[in-house]
Amino acid sequence: MRNNINKPKIPSPGITSAFITAQRRHSEETRVLGLIHRFTELLPHKPTVKEVCEHLVRVMIEETDFENCSVVLRAANSAYYGFCGKVTTVSRAVVAIGFHEVQNICLCALLMQHFHSEAVNQKEQMQLWQHSFATGGLARSIAQLRPWIQTEESYVLGLLHDLGRMVLMFYFLDDYHQIHKLATESSVSFYVAEERHGMPHTLIGKWLAIKWHLPTVYQIVMEYHHVPLSAPQSQKEVSLIYLADVLAYAEDIANQPNQDYVNECCDQLYISKDEWQYLGEKAIAIRNESVNMWNMLKPA
Ligand SMILES: [Fe+2]
Repeated sequence: MRNNINKPKIPSPGITSAFITAQRRHSEETRVLGLIHRFTELLPHKPTVKEVCEHLVRVMIEETDFENCSVVLRAANSAYYGFCGKVTTVSRAVVAIGFHEVQNICLCALLMQHFHSEAVNQKEQMQLWQHSFATGGLARSIAQLRPWIQTEESYVLGLLHDLGRMVLMFYFLDDYHQIHKLATESSVSFYVAEERHGMPHTLIGKWLAIKWHLPTVYQIVMEYHHVPLSAPQSQKEVSLIYLADVLAYAEDIANQPNQDYVNECCDQLYISKDEWQYLGEKAIAIRNESVNMWNMLKPA
């Protein structure tokens, strides 16, 4: 009996693994908060989108200089841009494919570096990234039809619209799995399951946009891109991203479950039936481009 009293208590395997899971989750949350804090510190009080991109690129270059330069060179030399082997420096890449393209590649590479994990289902992360690239590309295509919409900002708005889902997928994996299970068992969309679970990606995205001091339009787009008619302001940008999001997913643009939203958003941007048809055809090519973009930038 005496020996038993002095023996240290060994926790059961269940308790140990729960403790490790809690610890891991805590360190993941600390990591994402640290990352946000670092970006926030680097940003001026009210930066423009260009400044935000430049700061993000600077953080990326500081952290992994060689890797990120190689990402730009690899991208510029890929079949996607058609400069096979001719671009040897980043400044040449700027001349060859343009500053905005280099900036977008850096932004995509930066985000993929931080929103990537071996622990997450590879197909699901690939689908999320390809969808983000396609939404960015389609937002830019719609903006090109309307000279009063800023083309490059449209791309970044589209690229970042589902940032909240990336946070969910890569930093709150347990919740992500629970939402997945809930969506499958209840036969509801992933977004509805997120709301029932209490963690909609729209609110996480808005919270991150505020923490990163992104302009208000980013906060609004992230929060309202699934309910565009409820946006309190920036209706044109929200409509733009709603339509780009629909086009990026849709196989058949003529049969949309939320056709009222589509019609209303098309009206906001004066998009005619013929233009919508044209964008539907364009979407096929852009979805293919987004596959190439993923293949070009995916972490080795
Ligand atoms: Fe979304």
